[in-house]
Amino acid sequence: MILVHTPNPKEVSAYLELFRAALPERHFTSLEQAELADVRHLVAWGLPDGLLARLPRLESLFALGAGVDKLLSRPDLPPGLPVYRLLDGGMAAQMTEYIRYGVLGYQRNMDIYRRQQAAGQWRMLAPRLPADVSVGILGLGEIGAAAARALVHDGYRVSGWSRSPKHLHHVHSLHGESGLDKLLETSDVVACVLPSTPQTRGLLNGEKLSLMRPGAMLINAGRGDLLDQDALLALLGNGHIRCAQLDVFAEEPLPASHPLWRHPAVAVTPHIAAITLRQQAVEQIAAGLRRLAEGGEAEGRVERAQGY
Ligand code: GLV
Repeated sequence: MILVHTPNPKEVSAYLELFRAALPERHFTSLEQAELADVRHLVAWGLPDGLLARLPRLESLFALGAGVDKLLSRPDLPPGLPVYRLLDGGMAAQMTEYIRYGVLGYQRNMDIYRRQQAAGQWRMLAPRLPADVSVGILGLGEIGAAAARALVHDGYRVSGWSRSPKHLHHVHSLHGESGLDKLLETSDVVACVLPSTPQTRGLLNGEKLSLMRPGAMLINAGRGDLLDQDALLALLGNGHIRCAQLDVFAEEPLPASHPLWRHPAVAVTPHIAAITLRQQAVEQIAAGLRRLAEGGEAEGRVERAQGY
């Protein structure tokens, strides 16, 4: 029996329909209908407390998202349980659009024109070509690599940073502590799509953000806890960082009184840079369930110690 659970019952129904169509020979069920003692696989996003302890025969857990930080930090997650995450789930294309939108806006000075508009100021700025703008992507997994390829295609100078060295055509790939500093020092736009792991939490602290080029832009579409928001506000305040486009925050929803909401150089979006697309998610997970049934391994297995 395969249990599908999210906090939204309508969404569960939609997923059940897609899973049953993809794997008609398997038994998919909702929490209301499930015989918990028979559940072998769990497909979920947002688990109710205490549920895992009631699934004695659970063999695997498939997350309906790409970032599994919340799941891995649960004290009730059985230590040996294989956890799988979505590698794409339709998110790489959306994340690419989100980053492209930010980079294009920066290149065409739209943030500055918005501020000029607010001041009723008619002032033309010198044009800048894509080749004059360097973009550094933090995180070169499925999502970061897709964004990097798109930006190369658009004509930007692209570098990327990842834990282990990566080789991507026309992307200057950096890794390690010194690689991170180099990326921050040389990028006009820094776009972060890193997961939240013990290694990345707090990575973009005041010291690192100060390494960014004067007049640079920061995009964060990874996780909120990677970034020191106060340090960012200080660097926006003194003009060192020109603007920011933020989709994720230390606390979500971003509290109504938070200064980021009203900062003229900050664009805030409510964690929508990439939303799991059901059909794509079901395709990856159904393929994974099929492979596990054949005695193989499913895609997207999370290395617990690494956090993704
Ligand atoms: C969304 O933020 C995800 O990790 O899927």
